[in-house]
Amino acid sequence: MKIISIAGARPNFMKIAPLMEAMGAHESIEPMLVHTGQHYDERMSDLFFKQLGIPEPDMNLEIGSASHAVQTAGIMTAFEPICLEHKPDAVLVVGDVNSTIACGLVAVKLGIKLVHVEAGLRSGDRAMPEEINRVLTDSISDMLFCTEPAGVKNLIAEGVSPERVFLVGNVMIDTLLKNKAKADESTILDEIGVVPGAYAAMTIHRPSNVDDPVVFARLLDAIDVIQKEMPIIFPIHPRTRNNIAKMGFTDRIEAMGNLRLIEPAGYMDFLKLTSNAKLVLTDSGGIQEETTILKVPCITMRENTERPITTEVGSSQLVGTDPVKILEAYRKVIEGQWRTPQVPELWDGKAAERIVKIIVEKL
Ligand code: UD1
Repeated sequence: MKIISIAGARPNFMKIAPLMEAMGAHESIEPMLVHTGQHYDERMSDLFFKQLGIPEPDMNLEIGSASHAVQTAGIMTAFEPICLEHKPDAVLVVGDVNSTIACGLVAVKLGIKLVHVEAGLRSGDRAMPEEINRVLTDSISDMLFCTEPAGVKNLIAEGVSPERVFLVGNVMIDTLLKNKAKADESTILDEIGVVPGAYAAMTIHRPSNVDDPVVFARLLDAIDVIQKEMPIIFPIHPRTRNNIAKMGFTDRIEAMGNLRLIEPAGYMDFLKLTSNAKLVLTDSGGIQEETTILKVPCITMRENTERPITTEVGSSQLVGTDPVKILEAYRKVIEGQWRTPQVPELWDGKAAERIVKIIVEKL
């Protein structure tokens, strides 16, 4: 059985790593890997392949950055001939990035089975490009693998036949558990000069937060207060860095002496940074899940989440972008009022094995 897996953007790489490993170990599967090139910087892509031991992609479509339409269409045009040449039995896509929907659409139109890993997540916010990618990918997938019960519920409510939906756990957590000990050896804290438990780690890159100067300025108001009390380590996404310059925030950020901008961190350094932080400030989806397992308080600067389990049992609290709310949550952490998260069902490091077993049985 030939399966082409797709990886395009940074959050895909930690999800594809355990799947490639589990497929590689199965004698009846011939795995192939296509990198769309949606992310291409060394620190946004290659470093993850090296650190996570992901096999060299069989092909790189080298699409790069562009508007949504140009990027999505470019991936589709480049991926179709690959499917025609290699005639896979299935295409496997993960997550919710433009590469996910682009390759999914190509596959189903050629009559190739589509497998979606991390299916069913819904923020309910159609202004998020990822939400559109999720809804569309799920609506055309043949097998849908969910990380949490809400995903299953959403799919059933949308009319997906229950025989195609599987609750299997979280492949990103497979990668975290596998690499935690190795990440502990990272020297990033010494290099930056911070001590465990005495700093905050922060990521911000969602278009709703960094493409709107009014919203971005509100976040900076809260960040300014926090950085006066503890260092904030901020590995900065290229999109955020570009917008800081464009929107004229450079001086304001440079004036915050304890806000430490660093290059996008590799997997091991980032895991070391988050697992030793007093708290995490983020607008990422995946980091809400990782902090749940790491038991680190996560202040999520979004109005909604597609990963409700992280606020139900996990460490994450949604605070939106109001500085008052962000600072309230911060005080709660400092005063030790944050609850200890529980481990969600099946987040045990074996999700990829379960997925591959089900694929082999059903396809
Ligand atoms: C994409 C995903 C988002 C994910 C994020 C993680 C979509 C719709 N969004 O958003 O879900 O959370 O990746 O990073 O697919 N850039 C570089 N180097 C790179 C990649 C990007 O400089 O290697 C810059 C470019 O200026 C580009 C901008 O970042 O225009 C945005 O990149 P893009 O891939 O369009 O979306 P992300 O914001 O990264």
